[in-house]
Amino acid sequence: MKFSVIIVVYWVVGVQDASQGLLVVERKGWGGRVPWSELERWSGGRGGRASVCGTPCVCVVQSDGQLLVDCSMAQTSADVASSFTSPPPMLADYRNATVRLVLMSSELLGLDDHSFNNLSFTHIHVKYNHALARLAEKAFWSSRATLRVLDLRNNNITMFPLINLKVFQQLQFISLDDNGLSEVPAGVSELPAVLHLSISNNRLHTLHQFALTSLPSLQFLDLHSNRLEYLPPQLALLSALRSLMLWGNPITTLPQGSFHGLRSLEYVDLSYTNVIEVGISSMETPTSAPWFLSFRHTPITKLSETAFHNGSLPSWVDLRETGLQSLDQAFFQPLLQHMAQQNIVHNDWGKPQLWIHNEELACDCSIKWLVTNTTLLNHVSGRCNDKNINMRFLDPDYFNIFCF
Ligand SMILES: *[C@@H]1O[C@H](CO)[C@@H](O)[C@H](O)[C@H]1NC(C)=O
Ligand SMILES: *[C@@H]1O[C@H](CO)[C@@H](O)[C@H](O)[C@H]1NC(C)=O
Ligand SMILES: *[C@@H]1O[C@H](CO)[C@@H](O)[C@H](O)[C@H]1NC(C)=O
Ligand SMILES: *[C@@H]1O[C@H](CO)[C@@H](O)[C@H](O)[C@H]1NC(C)=O
Ligand SMILES: *[C@@H]1O[C@H](CO)[C@@H](O)[C@H](O)[C@H]1NC(C)=O
Repeated sequence: MKFSVIIVVYWVVGVQDASQGLLVVERKGWGGRVPWSELERWSGGRGGRASVCGTPCVCVVQSDGQLLVDCSMAQTSADVASSFTSPPPMLADYRNATVRLVLMSSELLGLDDHSFNNLSFTHIHVKYNHALARLAEKAFWSSRATLRVLDLRNNNITMFPLINLKVFQQLQFISLDDNGLSEVPAGVSELPAVLHLSISNNRLHTLHQFALTSLPSLQFLDLHSNRLEYLPPQLALLSALRSLMLWGNPITTLPQGSFHGLRSLEYVDLSYTNVIEVGISSMETPTSAPWFLSFRHTPITKLSETAFHNGSLPSWVDLRETGLQSLDQAFFQPLLQHMAQQNIVHNDWGKPQLWIHNEELACDCSIKWLVTNTTLLNHVSGRCNDKNINMRFLDPDYFNIFCF
């Protein structure tokens, strides 16, 4: 899948170069570039296709007024800088324009400080560069007042780039997925506008104690497939957070109050972790939204009846492929009663329910309380270990006669 995506990217870049290369060559007499002051002329009424920077980057004003800077053909950081040696375009009339940098599938190893002279980007897509390991702290310095989207996925970055990320105060979207990062430094904090932050599929084993703090707008945090062994406590303070993806980390314990400040929570994925026990208050959240909790494929054997304490109970709970051997009434009855009271249907998850298929689960007299109440049983989807029978089809009369 990943492979086919890269092929498509190559193809798109190739076509753009084929159509634009010609215009750049035609202008060789001007030193291979159109003077910056002509940006407006090229953007207005003439098809807007000529490059306004030097090679190897191609900079075109598109018909909708966006400036697209494509440096995918650059081989070195000096190559990139050589495209921007003359003063960059006056963007005064493009105050609200999108200025997009694309640098994909190149052989580039790194980007030095001030690689783009003083050109300011709103969107940066530097991705799928398999050898790109180094982004100097000031590589995108001129974009610090304008950058909204920073997409650095699928490179070979092992040292956190742009260590002082907080200078980019307009940032809304950050992706560092599929790199080799092992730490998140303190500078990834105090970003008032960030909505989406993902650093999945890296080698993260630690977060600086001030990393991911003061992110008042953050709604989506994706840290899946990393090496975190504990839940970083500062995550509990992300009051706007709606979705927290932590699956595929070797997390073993969930301390009390792990989610105590998550007022907007809708989705928590702790599947494929090493959590064994869900302890007192560990899942307490003040959220007012119906929320989804997944512990799928974890070795959980113990659920504390006060795990949610007096916080909000989840409406969908995935406990498939866990180590649970029975459905403890003290934990599950209030949960299912909560589900039964809610009159909601989610597009993907359907009505509120508990998924509990696993190899260990015994459907013995300990679940009489459940089998004899169809209202509650209606919200359970699971099978028993011995007879592989759907729990909804268990015979309540049998339990009434034989269990007392
Ligand atoms: C970039 O710098 C040049 C001088 O080096 C200046 O004339 C120009 O206004 C600057 N452009 C922007 C967008 O700041
Ligand atoms: C730029 O955007 C701001 C806020 O969205 C708006 O108030 C302003 O009129 C826009 N300016 C131009 C020149 O389009
Ligand atoms: C990626 O980085 C690692 C070390 O950080 C290095 O061993 C490897 O060769 C790099 N990959 C490429 C394609 O350059
Ligand atoms: C939980 O209990 C504490 C202390 O009794 C109270 O301050 C808090 O508001 C309660 N939270 C909820 C969600 O009921
Ligand atoms: C089943 O549980 C629901 C929800 O708690 C409750 O209202 C109802 O009385 C119970 N029914 C029986 C037969 O116990």
